[in-house]
Amino acid sequence: MVITVRELHAVEVLDSRARPTLAVTLAADGGLRARAGVPAGASTGSREAVERRDGDPARYAGQGVLGAVAAVNGEIFDALAGRAFASLAELDALLVELDGTVDKSRLGANAVVGVSMAAARAFAASRGVPLWSYFGGSLGTPRLPVPHFNVVNGGVHAPNELEFQEFMLAPLGAPSATEAVRAGAEVYAVLRKLLLARGLSAGLGDEGGFAPEIARPEEVLELLVEAITAAGYRAGREGVAIAMDPASSEFYRDGGYHVAGESLSTDDMIDRYEEMVDRFGVWLLEDGLAESDWEGWERLTARLGERVELVGDDIFCTNPAIITDAISRKVANASLIKVNQIGTVSETLDAMRVCRQAGYGQFVSHRSGETDDDFIADLAVGTGCGHMKSGAPARGERVAKYNRLIEIEDATDLPYGLGDAAS
Ligand code: PGA
Ligand code: ZN
Repeated sequence: MVITVRELHAVEVLDSRARPTLAVTLAADGGLRARAGVPAGASTGSREAVERRDGDPARYAGQGVLGAVAAVNGEIFDALAGRAFASLAELDALLVELDGTVDKSRLGANAVVGVSMAAARAFAASRGVPLWSYFGGSLGTPRLPVPHFNVVNGGVHAPNELEFQEFMLAPLGAPSATEAVRAGAEVYAVLRKLLLARGLSAGLGDEGGFAPEIARPEEVLELLVEAITAAGYRAGREGVAIAMDPASSEFYRDGGYHVAGESLSTDDMIDRYEEMVDRFGVWLLEDGLAESDWEGWERLTARLGERVELVGDDIFCTNPAIITDAISRKVANASLIKVNQIGTVSETLDAMRVCRQAGYGQFVSHRSGETDDDFIADLAVGTGCGHMKSGAPARGERVAKYNRLIEIEDATDLPYGLGDAAS
């Protein structure tokens, strides 16, 4: 169905970290109205599409987005208004052309992505189908993804001494997404009790996970295994497995990885990961090495790529060209997928297609700064990518995505689990 855009309106609102972001509304012929909330990252890759921030120190310490808002309400609206678009790809191509830069820095990736997300919803509405179904078929067969709950936060997402950014629970063995959410919530509750019993803080980081005063990653992994077991689940792939995103670019300096007071070479770091995989059954490792350490990534992939899903986030930036490069160099075996990292929904789908054709997994993700928008749940379901991360099973902006999975599951008979899309 063709959509003809009649109204486009952005407003500066707050994200989950009390920083400004955009809420975008798009109206099209036929009474179609769609809305989108724009997420924002903190541990960003250097080749990400660029967010436009005002830099005016008198407002939100320079973080305001009034320029991006003005771009949506002015230049982008003028370009779209009254035009009929036959597909989202066509509309997104116009946004890319209008911006004219390689990194969307002129209009702002935050402006562009909000319009693209709202437009995707308008196209779904024009067909009278839910958003997940609109994505269905273009890539893989729709399925409910395995939610990955980030229950311990460190790195730039928390003010503790833990360098590793994310420790996730992955209920691979759950019979359904709904039961996976229950497992995540139950283990999260037990973990809270374990932390308090040890006299550690149960305060939360940016993604709703606990941010205890622990430095060594192995100590966190021990706690997670204990919490999984104490909650009545099996630790490992048959039950609740563990995934990690150290976001290691953040602690890579002067050729070394700085972890809990030690400086590790790339090969030391790989050895350390192998031990963690052997001891704790870590099934997925994201950004294990830094975005500049491509030779290291080649060795990491050769060593662990058969046993572990190795996800590139900062190193790939959801960029089809970078992922194509990585595939030819046998770097990683999966890509993180963040819509705002590349800037349009269509380019995000391109990145997922490139992954799929090469047998690389696609791990759909929220950002550390979020809104109540549940877009990524539909994206993960519709593309059949098998897994998704949206932080802890706590805090409204994180839970919105998990609750959306439960609602989709309730309304359909789609299968649950990794399927064959994840490596
Ligand atoms: P970010 O972190 O949203 O702060 O970039 C998420 C991640 O590294 O996966
Ligand atoms: Zn990451």
